[in-house]
Amino acid sequence: MRLRLSHRAHPFVSDQELQNMQPFVRAAHQLMVEKTGVGSDFLGWIDLPEQSAEMIAALKKKANEIAQKSNVLVVIGIGGSYLGTRAALSFLGPALPELAEPALRVVYAGHNMSATYLTELLAELDRYDVAVNVISKSGTTTEPALAFRFLQAYMEKRYGKEEAATRIVATTDRANGALVAMSRAASYTTFVIPDDVGGRYSVLTPVGLFPLAVAGVDIDALLAGARRAKQELVDVDVLKNDAYAYAALRNILLRKGCAIEAFVSYEPGMHYIAEWWKQLFGESEGKDGRGLFPASLDFSTDLHSMGQYVQEGARILFESVVRVKKPRHALTIPELEGNADGLNYLALQSVQHVNDTALRATMLAHEDGRVPQVLFELDDMSEQSLGYLFYFFELSCAISGYLLGVNPFDQPGVEAYKKNMFALLGKPGFEAERARLETPR
Ligand code: PA5
Repeated sequence: MRLRLSHRAHPFVSDQELQNMQPFVRAAHQLMVEKTGVGSDFLGWIDLPEQSAEMIAALKKKANEIAQKSNVLVVIGIGGSYLGTRAALSFLGPALPELAEPALRVVYAGHNMSATYLTELLAELDRYDVAVNVISKSGTTTEPALAFRFLQAYMEKRYGKEEAATRIVATTDRANGALVAMSRAASYTTFVIPDDVGGRYSVLTPVGLFPLAVAGVDIDALLAGARRAKQELVDVDVLKNDAYAYAALRNILLRKGCAIEAFVSYEPGMHYIAEWWKQLFGESEGKDGRGLFPASLDFSTDLHSMGQYVQEGARILFESVVRVKKPRHALTIPELEGNADGLNYLALQSVQHVNDTALRATMLAHEDGRVPQVLFELDDMSEQSLGYLFYFFELSCAISGYLLGVNPFDQPGVEAYKKNMFALLGKPGFEAERARLETPR
C-alpha cells in the first residue's frame, strides 16, 4: 500500500542536480512544519489521517442510515468539494459503471450549470430512492448552490419536508455561509469542513469521507493508508523522501523549460485521480505568473491521439507516469488455434505484462523524443494505497509550492470569473463592474 518514485527523470535530471535542491527543500520543509510559510493557516490537511474517532463514528452512522434507504446518492459540489470523491470511487469502483448494478450509485451535480444535465438528472431520479449530500465550504459557490436549489425542491416535493430532511446531508463550514443557515433551518445533519483545510486538500475530511462511506468504501483503510504515508514521508533528505524528490524534480524540470507536466496512467480507474491531481497542483501553483500547467493522459487510449504530439510536438513537457503494480484482476491471454490474429506470440502471457511493456516501450520512446519521464509505482488499487497516494501528492504539492515561492493554499485567481459572472448576471452590488465589462473595449 505505497506509492514509490522509481524513475527520477534520468538522464534529463541527475542525482547531483536533485541533491543541489537539498537546501531549498529543507527550507520548504521548515516553512511547512514550523508553520511559518505563506498560507500557514491552511495546514490542517497534515493531521487529517488522524481523525477524531467520535466524528468518524457519527459519519458512519449517518452514512449507514442513508445507504439503508437510498440507492442513489447525489453529491453536489465543485472543485475540491467533489473531485476527491469522484477520484476515489472511479479508482475503487467497477471499471464499467455503466454496466454495473451496485447497491448504491453516486452521481454528481453542482460541477456544471448545464440545463440539459440538471433536467435529465432530475428526470432520472424518479426511478431511484434518493439521498443528497450538498458540499460547499463557503456555502456560497454559485454552481452547487444552484444545483441544490433544484435538488432541495425535488426532494421536498417527492418526500415531504420532514423525510427530505433525513435524506439531505450538508457538509460545510462550522459557522459561515448560506448552507449553514439553510441546514439549521431545515434540520439537516451537517458535517464540518475544518477552517484550516482548503477544498483541494479536503478529501480526508467529511467532504470525501461521508459520500465514500455511503458508497461502502472502507474509510478506515483509506485513512490508514494516509497515516502510513504521513509516518513514512518524514525524512527531509531529498534522496530519501519520494514526495520531496518529486517536488524538487518538478521544480528542476520547470526551470529546464518544461512548462507542462502530464500525469499519465495505464489504468482507466486512474482517470479521475488525474483530475484530482490536476486541481491540486494547478490551483496550488498556477499564480503570480508561475507554475507548471498540469495535464493528463490516459494510455493506451491517448497514445492514439495525443501520443503523436508527445513524441514529436513542441518540447515543452515532461510526463509523470503511475504504474499500478498489482491491478485488481489477473488475466491470461489464450492461445488461438490457427493464430488468425497473429497474437499467439503473446499466448499464455498476462495482459498486465503487455500493458507494462507498453508503459516501458512508451517511456523509452518518449525519452528518445526528449520528454523527461518520472515514474511512480503504486502497489495496488486498494483503499490503503489510495489513502497513501492522496497524502503523498498533498505533501509534495505543499513542498513544491514553497519551492516555487507561491502560497500553495490559496486560489485568488478563481474569483475573477465569479466577479464577472455576478456582474453580468446583475447580482446586486456589482453594478460598477457590470458597467466596466459592458463598455466596448
Ligand atoms: O480548492 C478549492 O478551495 C476550490 O476548488 C473549492 O473546493 C471549490 O471552489 C469549491 O468551493 P466551495 O467548497 O466553497 O463551494
